[in-house]
Amino acid sequence: MHGSLSTYHIGLFDSGVGGLTVMQEIARLLPHESLLYFGDTARVPYGNKSRETIIRYSIENAIFLLEKQIKLLVVACNTASAFALPKLRQIFNIPIVGVIEPGAQKAVSVTRNQRIAVLGTKGTIQSGAYQLEIQRLLPQATVVPVACPLLVPLVEERFLNHPITRLAIKEYMNQLEKAEVDTILLGCTHYPLLKELIQEQAGPHISLVDSASTCAQTVAHLLQTHKLESPTNQATHRYYVSDDPDKFHDLGEKLFGQPLPHIELQKPE
Ligand code: DGL
Repeated sequence: MHGSLSTYHIGLFDSGVGGLTVMQEIARLLPHESLLYFGDTARVPYGNKSRETIIRYSIENAIFLLEKQIKLLVVACNTASAFALPKLRQIFNIPIVGVIEPGAQKAVSVTRNQRIAVLGTKGTIQSGAYQLEIQRLLPQATVVPVACPLLVPLVEERFLNHPITRLAIKEYMNQLEKAEVDTILLGCTHYPLLKELIQEQAGPHISLVDSASTCAQTVAHLLQTHKLESPTNQATHRYYVSDDPDKFHDLGEKLFGQPLPHIELQKPE
């Protein structure tokens, strides 16, 4: 290994553009850290694939980033965190942060009546990962899981303020009618982009939380405890995708309203 570990990047992966919600928060909190993002655009979506497939993809993505000498790995995808985190931690010997634990922590700190809804992809909801983590942190919590498989494609179509999206959200939220939750956990990278519409449907008295900012705080804490903080203030951000860099560039810029640099095409082996 060359150089000091602390000069290496933080690596993040997601199935596509969604993980940029997490990357944005990490960049905001840790402006001196260099970040390396991989979007697995050739194999997106992850949300409706099987546990075995998601574990295999996640291992390949982690190896791809480790070969680029990252010092810490962020699994910036809820479905991959839900299915693959234990396996990744078993295999790889660097600090690994997922989005499930930070999201659950945030929801538990916000709820007052201990009734929390979790919205996510089919895979995330079926995995039971959020339900388990919330109940580990707050055993008396009632968790109401709702799979919302239509929301990711609607975000990717940029139907962020569109009647079809409102209708889909209304349909999913009907499942919460009698649940009396006071907190909704947005358990998918794309859902923060629909925050306004979900809040509109939920009403003003329900708190909406997501994993991104708590995840960034966990990353900061781990860098500190492992003495991996960047010694320089010359941070770089690099982006790789496994398919169609132009589409990623275009969608990323439009969804997040921020210019993205050149995106490199490179696939995990
Ligand atoms: N990134 C995924 C997640 O957070 C959503 C997109 C997908 O299904 O791949 O679960």
